[in-house]
Amino acid sequence: MKRWVLPVLVAVVVIAAQTRMYEMRADEPAADAAQAARDATLVQTVLRLKGIDVNSTPKLRDAVLRHLGTLQGKPEYVELVRKLNVRGVEAELLQLALQRPDRTEGVGAAELLLKFGETDRLRAELRGDDASQAALVAEVLGRVGTQSALELIQPLVTDNDAERTVRTAAAAAVGRNLIGQRFLLERVKKGQLPADVTFAVANALLASPDPRLRAEAAKHLKLPAAAEGVPLPPVAELAARSGDVALGQQLFQTKGTCIKCHKVRGEGKEVGPDLSEIGSKLSKEAMYVAILDPSAGISHNYESFTAVLASGNVVTGLVISRTDEQIVLRNAEAIDKTISLTEVDELIKSPVSIMPADLQKTMTADELVDIVAYLISLKKKG
Ligand code: HEC
Repeated sequence: MKRWVLPVLVAVVVIAAQTRMYEMRADEPAADAAQAARDATLVQTVLRLKGIDVNSTPKLRDAVLRHLGTLQGKPEYVELVRKLNVRGVEAELLQLALQRPDRTEGVGAAELLLKFGETDRLRAELRGDDASQAALVAEVLGRVGTQSALELIQPLVTDNDAERTVRTAAAAAVGRNLIGQRFLLERVKKGQLPADVTFAVANALLASPDPRLRAEAAKHLKLPAAAEGVPLPPVAELAARSGDVALGQQLFQTKGTCIKCHKVRGEGKEVGPDLSEIGSKLSKEAMYVAILDPSAGISHNYESFTAVLASGNVVTGLVISRTDEQIVLRNAEAIDKTISLTEVDELIKSPVSIMPADLQKTMTADELVDIVAYLISLKKKG
């Protein structure tokens, strides 16, 4: 290197830094935009050069992290983390996996967590106190579907200490691919399957792409019976059909008895959640599961409780309100009972939803398909 090169280089860097400070004081947004542009160029350069370890160069890492900040929640975020092997973003990846367990970016984020050796983090989530969050982790790992993903969720399927929501989500997740289906079939044959995951497992196995596995599973498992005792087809098959929205609305209000517990656009009773915008919340498959296996994923505010009273009586329902003195329980007929806490010996959370699990019994598969078509049509406005 010629002797003058270093001082000139230093001078250039200093001038550039000063210009930047001046820019920042003069015009913050413009400076931010310039910084963002520099970060983007830098990231592109690093991508082209390949083999550069961004984790060991703090300045470079900062630029990459700033650039990632502009891509949050997007598939490009996961792509970039993957390509540059960026570490220290595990919490963000987990967040993304939880928010989009059914999208490329969510599944990609979970894949990266496994690749980065974050199995302890994932296991802690699966065993954490937040059951609905644990269920989402199970779901996304099922979509990853690799051996290491399956190894994390398989033990949950038969674990009676796990919450039902988590166990069911794990069973459905494991059942997403053939290796998992074989695992489940073995458990079924050995009689090791907890009864409350049967619906999830039957759906997975009876819709398997392997006809031999399907036939074998049919010897042990049946889906719930619809009208006249005819068993329903698996959810995947129901979800592939299309129904009549107007008929579905009628059935919702009559034969289905749904209106006795659900409000839609101001009409109906309020035992379960308002379904006015349910079509924007649940997928078709999730809708069938919500109707046919209601206890599989009870939303937090709709857990049913049983109050054992000093008199020996029991009252069951949703907790509508609770103070230091009294509790209000709403039963399946939407009747509220106020009970003084001095009367209550015990308040037990029920693992079973107050939504009946056999509503399909009086309906044909086609009628159920119509109801789901109606529910799917109930989208958020605007
Ligand atoms: C006895 C009351 C009752 C009846 C009858 C009832 N539900 Fe429910 N439903 C609930 C409760 C309570 C929940 C919330 C707890 C749960 O998820 O199990 C719920 C949850 C749901 C959900 C999930 C909502 C969400 O936000 O995730 C759907 C979908 C649903 N019901 C549809 C139906 C349909 C369709 C019918 C009629 C075929 C019906 N329900 C009949 C009480 C009822």
